[in-house]
Amino acid sequence: MYVCICQAITDRQIHQAARNGAKTLRDLRRDLQVSVDCGRCANSARQCLKSANEQVMERNETSLR
Ligand code: FES
Repeated sequence: MYVCICQAITDRQIHQAARNGAKTLRDLRRDLQVSVDCGRCANSARQCLKSANEQVMERNETSLR
């Protein structure tokens, strides 16, 4: 699903960015150019990144067991 229409960035790309260490919207702007045009995607991108980072943390906790 597209999160940022202007840059054609999908939720999958945001999840990949999170796995690569993105923690903030600023990181997404730097890595994927999310929210650099109209900015309407900022809240959706932030929520998607939060969810992605929660999954990354769950995976890390599971792998430590
Ligand atoms: S929808 Fe992301 S910058 Fe416009």
